[in-house]
Amino acid sequence: MTIFKDMPQWQSFRKSLTGTLGFVPTMGALHDGHLLLVKESLLQNDKTVVSIYVNPTQFNNKSDLKTYPSSLESDIEKLKAIGVTALLTPTYEQMYPDKYCYKVTESDFSSTLCGSHRLGHFDGVLTVVLKLLLITQADRAYFGEKDYQQLQLIRGMVEAFFIKTKIIPIKTIREADGLAMSSRNKKLTKEQRKLAAQLFEQISKTQSSEQTKLSLRKLGFKLDYLEEHFNRRFVAASLGDVRLIDNVEL
Ligand code: PAJ
Repeated sequence: MTIFKDMPQWQSFRKSLTGTLGFVPTMGALHDGHLLLVKESLLQNDKTVVSIYVNPTQFNNKSDLKTYPSSLESDIEKLKAIGVTALLTPTYEQMYPDKYCYKVTESDFSSTLCGSHRLGHFDGVLTVVLKLLLITQADRAYFGEKDYQQLQLIRGMVEAFFIKTKIIPIKTIREADGLAMSSRNKKLTKEQRKLAAQLFEQISKTQSSEQTKLSLRKLGFKLDYLEEHFNRRFVAASLGDVRLIDNVEL
């Protein structure tokens, strides 16, 4: 696996690659959910490139950015072991030569759900994903249904800007007790971790949203939202400082 910190160097390497290229963008602290996206890409493409970049423009909360987990050495080992071709680890200067003067804004769905609680979050996500898609020139890019709103917005952007990369959705990977895998789970205390499984359990129950909200609040979750769209139930809730999101098909 070749590691590229320098994007022009990657871009010239990219030109030498033959066959199809799959791309998995991440912010690192890789878990089995991320690795499933990578494995799917390895199956469907001749070559696979992964990016690890904790994108500051999508964090509306500075302390969330500061405490975002990182495990680069073990991430590299995991990606090497499964046969990834290249890893991109760009710096802010590499990703934002414009200092974020130019951005992509979606003006409808992005202001609901997570967008209404994290101002500017999806501008940051869409902008960095556009940059990464242009840098990688991949045939396919893989995104998890765990971040369903993000997935939908990226699909919309790709269509709106005639980007040729095919967006491939991957089902949410869960821990044995149902908690959706997330890099943020590492920030939970032992008790919070035990309680966190209730998020999935409660939203999966055939009960009204109102009832689910009540149950979650009683259990100690601080709710950002619990809403239903496209036959799915979406939730964002915090335990202490740790914000968790999930969604299930109804
Ligand atoms: P990150 O949270 O690192 O997630 C990278 C990808 O892994 C996303 O597509 C996410 O939906 C997927 N993923 C995370 N947990 C998953 C799980 N339990 N099951 C299935 N897929 C899962 O999402 C981002 O990074 C960033 O916003 C990014 C797209 C990289 C832009 O900065």
